[in-house]
This record gives sequence, structure tokens and C-alpha cells, in this order.
Amino acid sequence: MLASMASRVWICLFLFVFSQIAPSFASETDEAQSKEFVLTLDNSNFSDTVGKHDFVVVEFYAPWCGHCKKLAPEYEKAASALSSHDPPIILAKVDANEEKNKGLAGEFEIKGFPTLKILRNGGKNIQDYKGPRDAEGIVAYLKKQSGPASGEIKSVEDASALIDGSKIVVVGVFPEFSGEKYENFTAVAEKLRSEYEFGHTLDAKLLPRGESSVTGPVVRLFKPFDELLVDFKDFDTDALEEFVEEASTPVVTLFNKDPSNHPFVIKFFNSPNAKAMLFLNFSSGLVDAFKSKYRDVAEQYKGQGISFLLGDVEASQGAFQYFGLKDDQVPLIVIQTNDGLKYLKPNVEPEQISSWVKEYKEGNVLPYRKSEPIPEVNDESVKVVVADSLHDMVFNSGKNVLLEFYAPWCGHCKKLAPILDEVAGSFQSDGDVIIAKIDATANDIPVDMFDVKGYPTLYFRSASGNLLQYDGDRTKEDIIDFIKKNKDKTTQQDQQDQQDLRKSEL
Ligand SMILES: *[C@@H]1O[C@H](CO)[C@@H](O)[C@H](O)[C@H]1NC(C)=O
Ligand SMILES: *[C@@H]1O[C@H](CO)[C@@H](O)[C@H](O)[C@H]1NC(C)=O
Ligand SMILES: *[C@@H]1O[C@H](CO)[C@@H](O)[C@H](O)[C@H]1NC(C)=O
Repeated sequence: MLASMASRVWICLFLFVFSQIAPSFASETDEAQSKEFVLTLDNSNFSDTVGKHDFVVVEFYAPWCGHCKKLAPEYEKAASALSSHDPPIILAKVDANEEKNKGLAGEFEIKGFPTLKILRNGGKNIQDYKGPRDAEGIVAYLKKQSGPASGEIKSVEDASALIDGSKIVVVGVFPEFSGEKYENFTAVAEKLRSEYEFGHTLDAKLLPRGESSVTGPVVRLFKPFDELLVDFKDFDTDALEEFVEEASTPVVTLFNKDPSNHPFVIKFFNSPNAKAMLFLNFSSGLVDAFKSKYRDVAEQYKGQGISFLLGDVEASQGAFQYFGLKDDQVPLIVIQTNDGLKYLKPNVEPEQISSWVKEYKEGNVLPYRKSEPIPEVNDESVKVVVADSLHDMVFNSGKNVLLEFYAPWCGHCKKLAPILDEVAGSFQSDGDVIIAKIDATANDIPVDMFDVKGYPTLYFRSASGNLLQYDGDRTKEDIIDFIKKNKDKTTQQDQQDQQDLRKSEL
């Protein structure tokens, strides 16, 4: 759970870069004028609506989620563009944060926001949406998703349109389009279609690469990296699926500003493996020396529970903040394990990579920790939170929590400190309310949950999980009022109240 949350935060940090370079289409006036094409669903009409359609995309969102806000105008624009598509493509959204929809979110195992699902055949088949997040990309991806899972390649033009050298394409070569092998191929294409592109052909000579005299049945996987193509002849559906997963994972995942690497970066972070990341300045001329050494190491550890990524510092500022890394430590390697430990080798040289990873594997490298913020002396009632305790204290505490994101150098934060002290003091006897703060410059902040653009930023999470940003005046009175108005009673407090009530009745 924690690990999967960490990986989502990670993906967010990385993809921040992509969302910045992705074009933005919608303007404020567009939104105000047009009618809404995205259907709003809730638990009262979800099944009915989905049941009526062959192809529905559902976005599960939360009102406070920054990435959801960014997606909204793109999603609406795509819905508008697809509204006249034949066959119909329906785009819908569900506020998963609403109490009445929590059951629905649970059913679909929604763990982060936004999550998009593709529901086919009246909701009988469910797939993750793995496409782009900009309007044009959404439209292109969904058009493809609503057609057949695998298209026939009849000409060289068909082949080069599909196999464009930027993505994974799986092509089945068959002597005829029938039989169990063809059916198994089609079943796997149907199952994995939201992640990879599929095609089938009677003629291997139409394909841009690989042995052209084969008549099949054979599956040829084209990829934009490593050996560029792999042939496979086992048509057992499980074996075929496993092959596609395995063959489509790069030995070294490349992270730079090129959005076509985006799906592989996501795949990297979703892998259950430990993650090694080498960060370099790609414009510095050192890249080649590192690349080949790093690749050798990655090849050597293939299948041993560790994945490798090569990142350009120019694209990795989010990651640097996350780890508290500094530009003068580049070139550096970080390894993050699934239990959240981090290992660091700053200013690494190409020759040192192999031996350092070996030392790590043998357990001879100590995990590194960022310096934890030092609690200020006279500030006992405001709890100081670090990243590792954020989850327990804020998300799982069952309490009402006011959380300040601060920076040690920020003047407004210093001004707020004595006020928060007083607020904390006034709730001291109330076991339901916690006042806490976290040094946002030294800790990992879940960016899909908190939108921290300046300091101080104040969030309030009620015991029942409502998350609100506090943007009122920074006075003791206003903050106390806000907390009183928005806090929930915890069961502990309920019991206490009931006891008090009973006592007074006696
Ligand atoms: C579903 O119900 C909600 C109110 O409960 C309503 O706002 C929404 O428009 C309905 N959606 C559809 C597609 O009927
Ligand atoms: C098709 O896949 C199934 C497993 O789903 C397997 O039992 C069967 O042998 C496969 N057929 C062929 C021809 O490989
Ligand atoms: C990377 O190197 C280029 C060229 O040497 C330099 O201009 C740039 O500032 C460097 N970037 C970083 C983040 O160090």
C-alpha cells in the first residue's frame, strides 16, 4: 500500500515534466460556453448508464486533486470531439471522494486520482486507460480502442503506419486467420489492447524488419529500443502474455523530455522491483561513457529484482526535490527499494557503477536519509511531521488534522508559527484535533494529494477523510473557527459523549 502510494507520487513527479510540455487547448471561455459532454455519474445511475453502452470511459476523480483539474478541460474537449463518433464513445466521470460513491470506487479498486477505466460491453469488460492526457491524444487513443483489437496489415503502408518506431507493436504472422493459435493471439490482443498495439498479417514481407520468409504462425514484437524486434512461437495465452510484458520492458528505461518514453517510465515505476536511477546531464558529453557501463550492469542484473533507469537532470527536477538531491551531486545513482529505503552514490564515475551496485546487492551500502527537520524548541503542541510519519499521522490517524507545509527560510511561516502554537494550545484538551507541520523542502510530499505552490500552505483533513485547503486569514480566531466547523467527531469522542450523556441522565 505504502509502496504503491510512493510509486504514484513518483510517477507524478516525473510526469510533471510531461504535463508541462504537453500542449494545452482549452481556454476559460470555451469551457463556459459549451454544454457538458462528459456525463456526471454517481452510484444512483452508474450501472444503468454503463449497462446501456458498449464503450464507456470513466474518470474517477477527487475535487482536490491537481492532476484531475488539469485533465478536466482536456477530457471535456475530447468528449465533445468524440460525441458524434460512430460507434458511440461515452466519456463519464465519478467524484470518488463523495461518500455515496466510495463503494463504487472500492469496486473498481481506485487507489489514486485521476484513474480512468474503459468499460466495454455494458461494463462486462474493464480495462485501465493507458493513453495520453491531452485532448488530441485522448481522442486518437479512444478511437483506436473502440475499433478491433488487432487490425489486419495488408500493405507496406499499413505496416509502416502501425510500426512507427515509437512504441511497442505486436504482430501475428499467420498462414490463415483461423485456428487455435490465431484465436489465442486475438484473445491476448483483446486483453492487452489498452497497453500495446496489435496487428496481424498473412505476409511477413510487408513488415519493416525481421526474417521476411516466415509464414507463421509466429508473433513478432517490435520495440523502439534494445534488439528492436523479437520473434516468439509459443501460442499458449499465458506464455504469450508473459512474453509481451517481458519483451516490452527496456533493459534501461530512458527518462528525458521525450514524451514517447512516458509509457516506459510509468512501467518502470509500476514494477515491483527495486529501482536504480542514474541521473546525468545529457547535454554534458559524458553520456556515452556512462550509458554503456550502466547498460552492462543492467544486463547483468536482469531478472534479479532490480530495474534500471537513466535520467536527464534537465528533466528530473521533481525527482531531485523528492530525494533532496543537489545538482552538484550529479552524476549520481539512487536506488529505491519497495520498503522505502534509499541508497545514494553521488558523483559517481562510469567505472564505479558496477562495483557500487554489487556492494548494494550484497548489503554493504547503508541507506541514506535526508536530514530531518529539527523541531523548534518552544513548539511542543504543534507536532512536527516527517515524510515517514505523514501517512500514520495524517492519513490513518482517524483524527482531524491541520497540516502546515512550511519552508525553514519562509518569513510568513515564521509569523504563523506562534499563531499555530496558540491554535494547538486551544485544542490541547480535544483529543480529536492534531495541529502539525511538515518541512516541505526536506520531505517527500504526496503531490497528487497536496497542491503546495507556496509557503505556508495549510491543509485540513477531517477524521472521515475530507481534505480541504485552508485559504482563510492566518489568524488564530479564523483558523480555530475553520477547524471547529469542519472537524468530525471520532468514534472515541462519540463514546465519550455518550458516556457523558448517560452520566447526566443518571
Ligand atoms: C446521475 O445522477 C446525478 C445526481 O444524483 C446527476 O447529477 C447526473 O446528471 C446523473 N447522470 C446521468 C447521466 O443521468
Ligand atoms: C491456447 O491457449 C490455451 C491456454 O489459454 C492453451 O491451453 C492452448 O494450448 C493454446 N493453444 C495453442 C495452439 O497453443
Ligand atoms: C547541463 O550541461 C549544460 C552544458 O554543459 C549546461 O548548460 C546546463 O546548465 C547543465 N544543466 C544542469 C542542470 O546542470
